[in-house]
Amino acid sequence: MHVLVTGGCGFIGSHQSVALLEAGHEVTIVDDLSNSKAAVLERIAKIAGKSATFVELNVRDTSKLTDVMTEGEIDSIIHFAAFKHVRESMERPVDYFANNIEGLTSVLQAATAAGVRRIVFSSSGSIYGDADELPIPETATPRPTNPYSRTKAFGERICADLCSSDPSFSITALRYFNPAGAHPSGHIGEDPTGLLSNLLPILMHVAVGNLAEVAIFGDDFDTPDGTGVRDYVHVMDVAESHLTALEKMSGEDGFNAYNIGRGEGVSVLQLISAVEKAAGVKIDRTVKERGAGDVASLFGDTRLAAQELGFSNYRTLEEICADAWRWQSQNPDGY
Ligand SMILES: NC(=O)c1ccc[n+]([C@@H]2O[C@H](COP(=O)([O-])OP(=O)(O)OC[C@H]3O[C@@H](n4cnc5c(N)ncnc54)[C@H](O)[C@@H]3O)[C@@H](O)[C@H]2O)c1
Repeated sequence: MHVLVTGGCGFIGSHQSVALLEAGHEVTIVDDLSNSKAAVLERIAKIAGKSATFVELNVRDTSKLTDVMTEGEIDSIIHFAAFKHVRESMERPVDYFANNIEGLTSVLQAATAAGVRRIVFSSSGSIYGDADELPIPETATPRPTNPYSRTKAFGERICADLCSSDPSFSITALRYFNPAGAHPSGHIGEDPTGLLSNLLPILMHVAVGNLAEVAIFGDDFDTPDGTGVRDYVHVMDVAESHLTALEKMSGEDGFNAYNIGRGEGVSVLQLISAVEKAAGVKIDRTVKERGAGDVASLFGDTRLAAQELGFSNYRTLEEICADAWRWQSQNPDGY
């Protein structure tokens, strides 16, 4: 396959590009570098032993994106390009809707024009919001609690409506929970140019000495130790799940959505302990007020992906922390 990876210079997209190249596929990355650096491209090539084609472009430019798809004879798309910070989305909701929704509709319009019919859409476990049932099954009604998660829930609706109106499309939405870790080589990892808001990279920056301490937002949730519980999943597992989803499409599969995660809740305090063990350092912390829109526990039931995609072999929390630490300790200031 020749796969177009939008947002391929970002955290998940860079690991995805390695996984695709290593599986023998051709890769074209489209990224506007709004939250990433082009330096990652050399690292991808170093690990995979071959390069991805790179086009610096905002996916909202439908005309140029159509040209990239047509000229490259693209036959599948993995759409990662989006803004992703929950807290920032509450301060800049319109920017999030513009980038994430217009970005998606532009990708779908370009795919329609260029005849590309196989797409994997990067959704999020956060669309479930404060769910009634844990682990959360795919059948739970999405109740997103912030603008970012609403862009993902609405993005899925757009994909489903397109598949209903044009059965030649196959679109799979993968709802992953908290992608974390890094490639085991230590050559690529998470290095945003914008906000650092995911917990594991913050812990890594504390461990390496770039930050003094971690802020724990809330220790009075209804969870065993009072801190928020999330489902951390290795970024290489997330990448491999997209590859499996793409390879599984046989044409006219319609719209499908799967949870991707280890299906196991890990609290903030448990993650801090795992990082202390992996890095061999003590992590200083302060407790702050929980944020608006924060939910107590979010972890998914991942049996459907196991049954229908055959995807169930997840790396452990220890591997997530060990690989993240290898990346951070070898690249304390990123790329
Ligand atoms: N990391 C997570 O915790 C998580 C969880 C669930 C879902 N997701 C989703 O996975 C996807 C990738 O996440 P990530 O963690 O790799 O984020 P990231 O910010 O590291 O990567 C996104 C990439 O897209 C690019 N980009 C953003 N808007 C663009 C646009 N309009 N045109 C072209 N490029 C654009 C950025 O420069 C960046 O390289 C996102 O859609 C995100 O919402 C992430």
